[in-house]
Amino acid sequence: MRILGFETSCDETGIAVYDDKLGLLSHQLYSQVKLHADYGGVVPELASRDHVRKIVPLVQRALKDAGTSAADLDGIAYTKGPGLIGALLVGSSVARSLAFAWDKPLVGVHHMEGHLLAPMLDEGNSPDFPFIALLVSGGHSMIVDVKGIGEYRVLGESIDDAAGEAFDKTAKLLGLDYPGGPLLAKLAAKGEPGHYAFPRPMTNKPGLDLSFSGLKTFAANTIRAAANDEQTHANIAFAFQEAVVDTLLIKCKRALKQTGYSRVVIAGGVSANTHLREIFEAKIGPNGTHVFYPSLAFCTDNGAMIAYAGMERLKAKQFDNYDEQVKPRWPLDTLPPL
Ligand code: KG4
Ligand code: ZN
Repeated sequence: MRILGFETSCDETGIAVYDDKLGLLSHQLYSQVKLHADYGGVVPELASRDHVRKIVPLVQRALKDAGTSAADLDGIAYTKGPGLIGALLVGSSVARSLAFAWDKPLVGVHHMEGHLLAPMLDEGNSPDFPFIALLVSGGHSMIVDVKGIGEYRVLGESIDDAAGEAFDKTAKLLGLDYPGGPLLAKLAAKGEPGHYAFPRPMTNKPGLDLSFSGLKTFAANTIRAAANDEQTHANIAFAFQEAVVDTLLIKCKRALKQTGYSRVVIAGGVSANTHLREIFEAKIGPNGTHVFYPSLAFCTDNGAMIAYAGMERLKAKQFDNYDEQVKPRWPLDTLPPL
């Protein structure tokens, strides 16, 4: 079976063709990063308009690159939520129109389910169920007990800023461009340990909820009081990143203990962070727990993860009606099991 997947929940237009026997046949991505950089964050209306401009040429390119045509497709998947409403509407309108015109089943995918299943695109190293999913993106952070596809229990989530959002806001305070997560990570690589001690929020209380807005405030106060030179900023970036990663590690270990599981999937934009990967490998790996990540191209938003999740739902015949609404807010644990 073959599916065309659309991702337009935020500032990336991602289109992919996935085949359940042959794997990923094409994945096209257009990032709007430059468009939003001047504003220091995503401007929703500009995002929607740019999706409108890019989406159809990207679909044409994806089909051509995959050597496939509409006749070969068994369905069309699109990100139905959560995300920016205008951006979601662009993807859903195009996906639904093509599904109607080509007479194909339509599948509305939950963006975070897409992230959560992204490691499965790497067939040689895909996790078995059950596992703990640590989802760390720009819009959401959560720890999920995953027993199977659609069998999700959210054990904890961010009560304020998501992990990626905290990276971006702290990067901005350090004078870095948007999106600052990867730039902060690059700066942190030049930092030295031992200069600053950031807190590990909500780790001395029981529970698995996360909170990162205090770290951003701590960073703001630290930057204000510190010297304004590159090495000082690198040291602050180092301490901030270390605190985020350590907090995620503490919570993840707690979730593993609570569930008795021995597998962790880390996905979403922040899972591209090298320091996070190194620390999790070093601190969780030796205890016999396997840590899985998507390949780097599929950590941040992309069409391939939507096509993959859409394929699973397509095989289970979980289709959308053509009049289905997008869901800017959509709790992950309301999804049906396969
Ligand atoms: O999953 P994603 O592409 O979009 C959402 O669904 O929100 O995540 C984007 C987030 C941004 O906040 C970005 O700064 C962060 O992921 N990010 C990183 C890194 N690469 C992307 N944060 C830290 N280190 C990175 N290497
Ligand atoms: Zn995302």
